[in-house]
Amino acid sequence: MSDHVYFFDTTLRDGEQSPGATMNLQEKLRLAHQLEVLGVDVMEAGFPASSQGDFESVQTIARHARNIQVAGLARCVDSDIDRCWEAVREAASPRIHTFLSTSPLHMKFKLRKEPDQVLAMAVAGVKRCAGYTPNVEFSAEDASRSEKDFLCRVVEAVINAGASVINLPDTVGYAQPDEFAALVKYVIENTPNSDKAIFSVHCHNDLGLGVANTLAALRVGARQVEVTLSGIGERAGNAALEEVAMALKVREGYYNLTHSIRTEQLYPSCRLLSMTIGQPIAMNKAIVGANAFAHESGIHQDGMLKNRETYEIMTPQSVGRAQTDLVLGKHSGRNAVKTKLESMGYTLDDQQLNLIFDAVKSLADKKKSVQDDDLVALVLEEIYRLPDRFRLRNVSVQSSDGSGVPPTAAILMDVDGMECSAAGFGVGPVDAVFNVIAQLVGREPELQQYLVHAVTGGTDAQGEVTVRLRDKGINAIGRGTHPDVIVASARAYVNALNRLAKAERDGERSHCQHGD
Ligand code: KIV
Ligand code: ZN
Repeated sequence: MSDHVYFFDTTLRDGEQSPGATMNLQEKLRLAHQLEVLGVDVMEAGFPASSQGDFESVQTIARHARNIQVAGLARCVDSDIDRCWEAVREAASPRIHTFLSTSPLHMKFKLRKEPDQVLAMAVAGVKRCAGYTPNVEFSAEDASRSEKDFLCRVVEAVINAGASVINLPDTVGYAQPDEFAALVKYVIENTPNSDKAIFSVHCHNDLGLGVANTLAALRVGARQVEVTLSGIGERAGNAALEEVAMALKVREGYYNLTHSIRTEQLYPSCRLLSMTIGQPIAMNKAIVGANAFAHESGIHQDGMLKNRETYEIMTPQSVGRAQTDLVLGKHSGRNAVKTKLESMGYTLDDQQLNLIFDAVKSLADKKKSVQDDDLVALVLEEIYRLPDRFRLRNVSVQSSDGSGVPPTAAILMDVDGMECSAAGFGVGPVDAVFNVIAQLVGREPELQQYLVHAVTGGTDAQGEVTVRLRDKGINAIGRGTHPDVIVASARAYVNALNRLAKAERDGERSHCQHGD
């Protein structure tokens, strides 16, 4: 058995299904590029049959990706499989990932089918995929709650039908590490043709065991891990890519397994995702959280000064958190900005570079130094924004000093290419800004969440604001950054309104997920 572990990233599919993680095409393309830079072997770019938008993004990603396999998800039905192939076929290395539930619970209540019918469906689906490509993955959904011998029958049959990767998901995050490892081992040992396929696992995190279950499965022969950046995904999410990769690296002698993840790209990748979907990384998140390498107690600090290894099992540099912030400032030239961006994986054309260069200069006027995270925020803000229906031009606010005049906001913005302005009041300045913008675009969305977060340290840091809006049954997240949190709030609000409008245009994606 090979000792190489393949990383299958599903941030753009399972991850994107998590609440508020929807991305636009440009954002998906940028993330897809980053997954390639990170050294991921296979990226699941989406679920083409679930919506026209998903189809188009999978197809576009497939056309761009070069050094990474591109998978699309498909239920075991002809129409899904055909649509999936249509979306991925132009990739340098396309994969069809088809799935069907095998647990008694799912077969009876969700599929309403007898086990033999499920087996026949799985075989027919895999054969159809294999007619398109030899790179076929079959997932036995809810494998961890499936009857072991039935699972082996299905696995044997789909390998004979042409599946080269067999995925055993812990769909509901129910399994315990020893138990899950025993199941994977059983299936490998009791499926006569198991040597003809690579075994994979896909572990959800409902009991916080996604990574533990994934690693336990690797110990007994699984050789593909299905993971997401920062562990985003359905409900409590999936096993976190960065945690699995670093466990294999830091405990190399224990696992004796190799992989192709460039671990110095872990932090930049998770940070890019976080800024794209507007969800801050938790301070104590393993590997990529702000505190993961911070040493607070005196005893720890003393130990660290004497020998880092006393309290540090890996270096910040090894996960891409080096203190290499080449700080840009007022006097940095265009070339310094370009070099810095390139070192961070951004290749911009001249026009885009000019935009960022101007934005760096203007930011450097407001804050002492422009750091890596500021740059990422600027690129997301200036380059990766949706072509907007609504565009903010100017925000001016007057806070209340308690003298009776309520907080006031005056807004100048473009709505469908027309410049318009209005002023109004609110309970506070942010409320006033949101009220006026809502009036200008003619909507009254419900504000479900408002978060402020500092992009870097220091009182002059840029504020990163995330808002979640709901209107006519559609949710949208927006984010905005600016050294002035009121302006950042206005940008986030407008961004969310643009996303709402886009979701309406596309027709809300159905996410006809998990076999229904
Ligand atoms: O959780 C799950 O079972 C899935 C499958 C589609 C692989 O996401
Ligand atoms: Zn899943």
